[in-house]
Parts: sequence; structure tokens; C-alpha cells
Amino acid sequence: MNQNLTVQEAEDHYQELKARGSQLDLTRGKPSSEQLDLSLDLENLPIGNFIEDGIDTRNYGELLGLEKMRQLGSEILGCKKEMVIAGGNSSLTLMAQYISNLFFQGSGEGPWSMHERNSVLCPVPGYDRHFALCDEFSINMIPIPLTGNGPDIEKAKSIVSNDPSVKGIWCVPKHSNPTGETYSKESIEGLLEIASQRKGFRIFWDNAYAVHDFKESAPLPNIFSLAKEKEMLESIIAFASTSKITFAGSGVSFMAMSEPNLDNFIKHYASMVIGPDKVNQSRHIKFFKNIEGLKNHMLKHAEILRPKFQLVDKWLSKQNFGSWTKPTGGYFVTFKSEPGLAKEIISLAKKAGLKLTPAGATFPYGVDPQDEIIRLAPTACTIEELEQAMQIFNACVALASVKKAASS
Ligand SMILES: Cc1ncc(COP(=O)(O)O)c(C=O)c1O
Repeated sequence: MNQNLTVQEAEDHYQELKARGSQLDLTRGKPSSEQLDLSLDLENLPIGNFIEDGIDTRNYGELLGLEKMRQLGSEILGCKKEMVIAGGNSSLTLMAQYISNLFFQGSGEGPWSMHERNSVLCPVPGYDRHFALCDEFSINMIPIPLTGNGPDIEKAKSIVSNDPSVKGIWCVPKHSNPTGETYSKESIEGLLEIASQRKGFRIFWDNAYAVHDFKESAPLPNIFSLAKEKEMLESIIAFASTSKITFAGSGVSFMAMSEPNLDNFIKHYASMVIGPDKVNQSRHIKFFKNIEGLKNHMLKHAEILRPKFQLVDKWLSKQNFGSWTKPTGGYFVTFKSEPGLAKEIISLAKKAGLKLTPAGATFPYGVDPQDEIIRLAPTACTIEELEQAMQIFNACVALASVKKAASS
């Protein structure tokens, strides 16, 4: 697609694609059925006698999860097993439970419920459900830009030093949702420095894509080791799950924090949870055997995902508008249009039968101040659908862009 395209040509191409009456969807970052099929053996494993390390997995109890599952979680997250809870099917639920705990117990300066205003830093573009959770708890969200290697630390420092209500930050440190970036050592050290200057500051370390490389990827420095050196372990609350490893709706979630933090949290957690689904944890243990088994399983996911991301890049490279990320793992590509065009592109796509994540969804309060960020989630659809979806996407970008150029 060339930049000398006239509005009429762009419009004709768009109308031609629209007339196909497609029904395509690039909204949510879900695994495809082909990926879910990789874990079918979870269903076919011999059930055995339901005893795991002497525990009858069908019964109540084992609030922290099965030991072997905690071990697996500790290897995904990079910390000691004693710091890990292996929970139910969703890490988002653990995040909500931890935040709820902050409102009851706080993180050092009394319960968050006592404070008139509680703020957290939200690197943008970010994960919409983190923002929905903050909204639900009336936590004030302060956006800060991502740099490609993590949050803008100077900006974060200046906000925190001028606003005593800031008590934490959301981070998706590896293959961030949706930019795909991985935090650098400098960036992690910057976060720990900020935490060292504000009592009770919490780094919500949502490592949802810890083992989700589909190409050679930069390693994520271990925040627990860096924090231990600086005696800052208490500031980190980490999360992960097998949602995008086995079954998205029935995997196992993990949460890790310092042992004193865990002792505090467990009181609140125990009021809400009798015990996790240990039958599911046990079959996950049998399925993977150990972290090596899990990593080998992720290589199969990578084979399925790599061509999809290559396809998205191939289509975006065919046109001359905007810029986009080139992730080596995770579930998303972020497209940046010219300022002021994201809503229009998404609306044009909808009319042509392509659903895209709403404009602004990757920002706190749903507001992208530049109206330029579009999150593309290419994992769930087939290659054929993706091919059609990207053709429509390009046509929408081209039409919106040439119209803007013509009117300025
Ligand atoms: C950054 C991030 N965290 C958490 C989740 C959800 O995890 P879970 O299924 O364990 O609740 C997602 C899913 O898209 C995600 O992208």
C-alpha cells in the first residue's frame, strides 16, 4: 500500500473488503483451540488414587496448594517455594484478593480503607483488567509511559516524590501486555529504589507471560534476587498462572511474596478460601512432571504462535502508516497510528466485520490521550482468519490516514 494512495482509492478498497461481510475478531488475548489441544492429555491422564504426597486431593485443605505445585510456581516466578501460594484457576482473582487485603490490613501505614486517596502507577499502554480492578476498589490510577524496557523511571520517581497517595505500581515485566516489552535490570532497580523511598510501596509483578517466548527473547532479570540484595523483598507481590500454558479457564494460579507478607496475607485469604482445586493441581503436576516439562510444552505453543505474529508483521510492513511492536513472546502487537486516528480505525474495522479492542482500553479510565494505540490480539484466530483480518485492518488504517492527510 503506498503513501500516495488517494482518498478515493483507499475508500474503494475499504468498501470492497467491507462487502465481503466478514466476521473476524482480534480483541482478546486467548489461546487458540489448537493451543488448548496441546494439553488434552490433562484430561486423559490416569486418575490414580487421588493421593499426592500423602494428601487426598479430593478433600478440603492445603490452603497454600500442593507442595509440588508451589515448587513449579516458584520456578516460573524465580523465588523460594515457601513464598508461593498455588491457587485456583485465575491469577486475576489472587490479585483482587491481595488488593482486598490491602484495604483491610494495608501494607505498613494502616489499611488502605483509612486513606482518603490511594494511588497506583499504571504503565501505559497496559492490561485493561488491572485498570478495571483499580476502578472497582476506587484506587486512583496514574498513567506513566513505558519506554520499551519498562516504565519511565524518572517520571515515576517524580510522581511518587510529589504525591504521598502513591502506594504501588502495576507491572507486566515480560512480554508486557500489550507492548511486548521486557523490563531491563536498570528499570527493575529503579522500581526497587522507588519502593525503598515509600513505606509500604507494592510492586504488583504480574508475570503472566514468564515462559511465553515464541522467539529468542531477552531474559527477565530476577526481581526477587535484586530485591533481596537491597532488602526490599517485602515490596514485591508476584503473580503468574498456567492460563496460557494449559487451559485458560481451568489452569492453576500462583502468587509469591516474602514470608512475613505471606503470613499476614494468609489470614485474609483463609477467610475467603478453604483450599484450592487440588485435583486440578495434581493433574498439572502429573502432566508437566517438572519445570523442564513445562518449558518443553511451551515450545509447542511457540510453534503455533510464531507464524501468527510473523503474519501480522508481514501485513503491517506492507503499508506505510503508523508504527508497531515486534514482540518475541506474549500475546499482543501494539499498533500506534497517527494521533487522533485510533477510534476511527477501530470504528471502520467494526463496520467491515473486524472486531478490535476498544480504543482507550489499554489506558486507565479508558482514555488514550493521543487516541493512537490499538491492541491487536492475533492468537485466537486461525491463520486464514488472521490473513483476512489484517487485510481489513490495513485498509482501515490506510483510509483513516489518507483522509486525515487530505484534510490537513
Ligand atoms: C497481564 C495479564 N495478567 C493476567 C491475565 C489473566 O490471568 P489469569 O487467567 O491467570 O487470571 C492476563 C490475561 O490476559 C494478562 O494478560
